Amino acid sequence: AAGAAGLVIGAAGGAGIASAVSGDGPVTGAGGPRALTSVGSTEVAFHGRHQPGITTPLQSRGHLVAFDLAPGAGRKEAAALLRRWSATARTLMAGKAPSADTGIALDAGPSSLTVTFGFGRTFFDRTGLAARRPMQLDPLPSFSNDAVDPKRSEGDLWVQIGADDSLVAFHALRALQKEAGDAARVRWQMNGFNRSAGATSRPMTARNLMGQVDGTNNPRTTDPDFDRRIFVPAGATGAQDWMADGSYAVVRRIRMLLDDWEGLTREKQERVIGRRKADGAPLSGGSETTPLDLDKRGPDGKLVVPDNAHARISAPEQNGGAAMLRRPFSFHDGIDADGAPDAGLLFVCWQADPLRGFVPVQRKLDRGDALSPFVRHESSGLFAVPGGAAEGEYVGQRLLE
Ligand code: HEM
Repeated sequence: AAGAAGLVIGAAGGAGIASAVSGDGPVTGAGGPRALTSVGSTEVAFHGRHQPGITTPLQSRGHLVAFDLAPGAGRKEAAALLRRWSATARTLMAGKAPSADTGIALDAGPSSLTVTFGFGRTFFDRTGLAARRPMQLDPLPSFSNDAVDPKRSEGDLWVQIGADDSLVAFHALRALQKEAGDAARVRWQMNGFNRSAGATSRPMTARNLMGQVDGTNNPRTTDPDFDRRIFVPAGATGAQDWMADGSYAVVRRIRMLLDDWEGLTREKQERVIGRRKADGAPLSGGSETTPLDLDKRGPDGKLVVPDNAHARISAPEQNGGAAMLRRPFSFHDGIDADGAPDAGLLFVCWQADPLRGFVPVQRKLDRGDALSPFVRHESSGLFAVPGGAAEGEYVGQRLLE
């Protein structure tokens, strides 16, 4: 139901399809050249109804980068930039080297590389396109728990890079940054990670740096209402016409106050979320995939999933159906002078409309979520991510042409 984006064309173990396509040449081993059959061989399609990197399984490495158009750069320069960026993303995602290559990823396969492009609110004034700015890009409200640094927030353009290899991800980042040339400059950049493929014998939902199983109750591409919740309808009209099959990304750098968090007993930690730490199962019983029973009471008469548990407060049933696809990376940027790790979650969530996704849920969490005392939102971005480029098209062409 999620359309063709994120489609894996050369699955790991799939006889090295991707390296054959890439022309990078096979891996050389002791017995001579052999095909790439592991993580590196997985290739994600660049072209499709939706951009890649939304329904694509989480990759182990991610870079989030915002750019501002350079003074004097307008719609023409932006269109040329998106054309260059799209061509390079397509080449790199196929595991091929662009011209004038740095060689950083020379001996790696596509490694599930995805590159996703979005437009921020300020892009439209700078390019004379204000009339085509969707109201979905209106500024997010501020929340009481916010400690947002404007320099690390928003931006004219946003690029999300994900890959199952750090060198492949950096290679893409470097290539795209160089290609920005005189047209755009990096405004901020954040680096993230997730568990590496193959690190666990039990393929399961990822863990975050609080040690929780995180992502369990995400909407699934097989849900009948998945497309309606996550993607702008194909027939979108008005200022949103160019956003057909696109999605809105809310990006928050959320610092985890790990010293405080780790001071809680496991039992208290579990009550903060409403799920068990070991396997992510609801405190109301069952296994990870059992629905939460929000009405269940213990022998003491108290709710088993507490009133202020994060999973209760954020559930769609508690928010008029508001839902989003959470697709985060963890981050760790060193240790502060006081010894506290500068670590947390690069929270990225996807929805057809932020006012029916992130905003109502965050409003509610902000009013009394048990997790709030242990996190701090340090930066914020909202980006319109258009639909995927068809063959021969570049991303954003329907807006910029
Ligand atoms: C559920 C952690 C921030 C929305 C969960 C779960 C965990 C978790 C462990 C339960 C497992 C799951 O269903 O994924 C965190 C952490 C956060 C954070 C550590 C900050 C560092 C947010 C924010 C939002 C959000 C900012 C949105 C405004 C949700 C939603 C669910 C959820 C919608 C699923 C609820 C359900 O349907 O059961 N989160 N979360 N989370 N979280 Fe968060």
